[in-house]
Amino acid sequence: MNSVWIGGEADTGLHERTPYWLNGFVPLAFLLRNANATELPATRGIYKYKASTGKYWYTKGYLPVGEDLAKRNETFESAEAYCNAQHECLGFTFHGNDSAPTAPVPVYFKKESEPVLSAGWNSYVKILAPKPVDALGQVHKYMDYILAHQNTTTGWLGPDDAEKALGNQYWPRSNMLLAMIAYAEAEPAVYDNVTKSMLLYTLEMKRRLETLPLGEWAAARWADLDLSVQWLIEHAPAGHAAELFDLSDTLHRQGTDWEAWFQTLKGGWPHNVNIAMALKSAAVLYRTTINSTLRELSLGRMRNLDRAYGLPTGMFLGDEYLPTPPTRSPSRGIELCGVVEAMFSYSTMFAVFGDTAFADRVERVAYNAFPATWASPRGGDMWAHQYLQAVNEINALSNADPHVWQRDGAAAEMYGLEPNFGCCTANFNQGWPKLANSLIYTAADGGVVVGVYAPVEVSLPNGQGYVSVETSYPFSDTATVRVKAAAALTLYLRIPGWAEEATVDGAPARNGTMHEVACPKGATAVRVDFNPGVRLEMWDNGTVSVHRGALLFSLPLGLNFTTTAHHFGDMAMSNDYQVTPTTPWNYALDVDPAKPHASLEYHFRGYQSGAAPFNHTNWACFITATVRQVPYWKERMNSAASPPESPACVRNGKDVCGPPIQVQLVPHGGTDLRIGEFPVAGTLSSEPLMLGRKGNKNQKTSPT
Ligand SMILES: *[C@@H]1O[C@H](CO)[C@@H](O)[C@H](O)[C@H]1NC(C)=O
Ligand SMILES: *[C@@H]1O[C@H](CO)[C@@H](O)[C@H](O)[C@H]1NC(C)=O
Ligand SMILES: *[C@@H]1O[C@H](CO)[C@@H](O)[C@H](O)[C@H]1NC(C)=O
Ligand SMILES: *[C@@H]1O[C@H](CO)[C@@H](O)[C@H](O)[C@H]1NC(C)=O
Ligand SMILES: *[C@@H]1O[C@H](CO)[C@@H](O)[C@H](O)[C@H]1NC(C)=O
Ligand SMILES: *[C@@H]1O[C@H](CO)[C@@H](O)[C@H](O)[C@H]1NC(C)=O
Ligand SMILES: *[C@@H]1O[C@H](CO)[C@@H](O)[C@H](O)[C@H]1NC(C)=O
Ligand SMILES: *[C@@H]1O[C@H](CO)[C@@H](O)[C@H](O)[C@H]1NC(C)=O
Ligand SMILES: *[C@@H]1O[C@H](CO)[C@@H](O)[C@H](O)[C@H]1NC(C)=O
Ligand SMILES: *[C@@H]1O[C@H](CO)[C@@H](O)[C@H](O)[C@H]1NC(C)=O
Repeated sequence: MNSVWIGGEADTGLHERTPYWLNGFVPLAFLLRNANATELPATRGIYKYKASTGKYWYTKGYLPVGEDLAKRNETFESAEAYCNAQHECLGFTFHGNDSAPTAPVPVYFKKESEPVLSAGWNSYVKILAPKPVDALGQVHKYMDYILAHQNTTTGWLGPDDAEKALGNQYWPRSNMLLAMIAYAEAEPAVYDNVTKSMLLYTLEMKRRLETLPLGEWAAARWADLDLSVQWLIEHAPAGHAAELFDLSDTLHRQGTDWEAWFQTLKGGWPHNVNIAMALKSAAVLYRTTINSTLRELSLGRMRNLDRAYGLPTGMFLGDEYLPTPPTRSPSRGIELCGVVEAMFSYSTMFAVFGDTAFADRVERVAYNAFPATWASPRGGDMWAHQYLQAVNEINALSNADPHVWQRDGAAAEMYGLEPNFGCCTANFNQGWPKLANSLIYTAADGGVVVGVYAPVEVSLPNGQGYVSVETSYPFSDTATVRVKAAAALTLYLRIPGWAEEATVDGAPARNGTMHEVACPKGATAVRVDFNPGVRLEMWDNGTVSVHRGALLFSLPLGLNFTTTAHHFGDMAMSNDYQVTPTTPWNYALDVDPAKPHASLEYHFRGYQSGAAPFNHTNWACFITATVRQVPYWKERMNSAASPPESPACVRNGKDVCGPPIQVQLVPHGGTDLRIGEFPVAGTLSSEPLMLGRKGNKNQKTSPT
């Protein structure tokens, strides 16, 4: 609200938070408009006080105080009495203590139950009734300011200050350019202005790169910059193509050589977010080189990461850097920024190459890792997120000391406003809007592609028609795709790799292909039946994860929420939470991996329209399973220890586990604490485990 990008003082350093936020918020605002929801609900409250400037800027923008700001030397009691007597006063906060800027800030809500914090001194701010958030208004406010304040001499966008020395200053502009693309594509009235502005900026960047090459973050993340340059080649005013191709080449030359790095995963700067963003580097490069090796490299890097660092959620491990030594431990973490960037990268890879494996992976990450990183005592809302999430997550502590992750702080796995670092708070909001924009594509032959499944309605460009996908996927097993075409076209339907028995209008459709349907002019409706089976995937030390369709199913733990801080909004809104388990977690799955259907039974309760899709209580579907407690599988460093070798219940010729217990495994994205990777129980009488045995369609050995 007080960003340097709009003339304020906040968002210092790299100036990356505002561009991160706009990169998600611009498409979100226009998607909401398309759904006729231009306003977001009002949030009442006060942002956390920051005293660094000595100004009362915490009241600017967020709360419409302005002239209502009244500074008085009054005691808490008299401020309270004053507020109670004033009709328009909903509450107040105190001016913090400048000598102790991190001290708690007292906030009092007249209509809430109690003052949130006490102590403080001599001034207060009236809180007026909040207005609903005008999402498009905010987009215009930021984007129009930024456009109007472009340096008209040079073309530079936004603040131009000391950060430049490291060659890093191109990086925050990378997200600004992506936000500008979204703005230009969604709002015809600004198209010319935005494309011109982007062109001016990129030509200035080209000039600067001659003397100050890409460095640090900008060098690692060149592919995202290149995407925008490529967009400009297709959309900018004519006459600059040669310069822009040249710039695209420069970005590749000055940027990190990810094509080489992904072959070995060794050396360099193995930062998880850089890697997640760089997944798409070969796909982006392919667009200007048409070098078919790059497709193989793209598929290969996904497999390489899976082998060394992969997880059942489709992500790889990384707390800041890839873990050293390499591990796929389900107790280790991956950062939320890495998750949203991987979603965007895999979408880009699918858009360029059309391989179903990339779209399968988009869904796997989006429908499992992404929603799993929120928790709330109310289930399903997105007020509190983690910095690091784990597949086997038995605690989310505010001070995990010691902890199993290597480079992040003791609060990295708790749920809150900005645990560990605030980057993910700014960046996570690109997840859903970008996914929504990556569901339906046009094909080179003028056809329409359903790449990723979700309920969606789309108008095709140039009045070519309309497509809708009616489904409650990933919770349901069917989708009805309706096309209204101005002229005959081909509809391409992705049949996921796991959908081995899929049908389209009753006829078999091969898994892992783009199934073609000829649509005549006019209306066509087709029904896709995915017919998924429950399947097991095998991980290290003989552990298994349980999957069905796009979803991973995990054991949810009983939850003890402790609110450790309140930031803004009413008491149900922005809080930090520590979450600890109230039920045991150290279970082995009692399953015969050769016959998972014998003990794993799928149930569909139905998705309730209007409910939060990944609500953490009333799950749309679940799998009943039998588990047995493994007494020697213990907590270690505040996380679950590595799962024991399977069969976990047989030790020294004895059965050491507890009795069989029936449990429900639920969508991983709808859990706060959970076990997602289990040892297999095994029995004294059973044959050796036959994981990976050929001939059973319900098992796979690792994700693709
Ligand atoms: C939004 O409103 C317009 C005009 O009333 C209507 O045509 C359109 O179908 C609505 N869109 C949605 C998603 O409800
Ligand atoms: C509040 O009190 C301080 C210290 O006594 C004084 O310097 C200041 O002028 C007072 N402010 C107002 C608005 O009366
Ligand atoms: C502000 O904080 C300092 C340092 O903790 C303390 O000495 C001082 O008394 C505080 N002032 C007020 C008015 O609370
Ligand atoms: C874009 O529009 C703003 C006014 O909203 C103007 O100040 C700016 O110069 C325009 N930029 C370009 C590149 O035309
Ligand atoms: C534009 O950039 C030039 C070169 O850095 C600088 O001298 C000038 O002051 C800038 N203009 C504005 C309006 O900031
Ligand atoms: C294609 O890309 C690969 C990987 O970067 C590279 O080794 C090869 O030389 C390229 N081929 C051509 C013809 O440029
Ligand atoms: C596999 O088990 C060994 C021995 O207990 C352990 O050191 C290792 O960390 C485990 N691997 C994983 C990925 O948990
Ligand atoms: C399709 O299913 C078969 C088994 O029926 C499997 O071997 C193959 O890997 C699957 N294809 C893809 C792309 O996953
Ligand atoms: C919940 O956690 C808090 C600490 O965060 C602890 O004091 C309390 O005893 C726990 N309650 C239960 C039921 O586990
Ligand atoms: C989640 O489900 C519960 C139980 O039906 C409901 O009370 C709650 O409002 C839901 N939460 C959200 C965010 O939809």
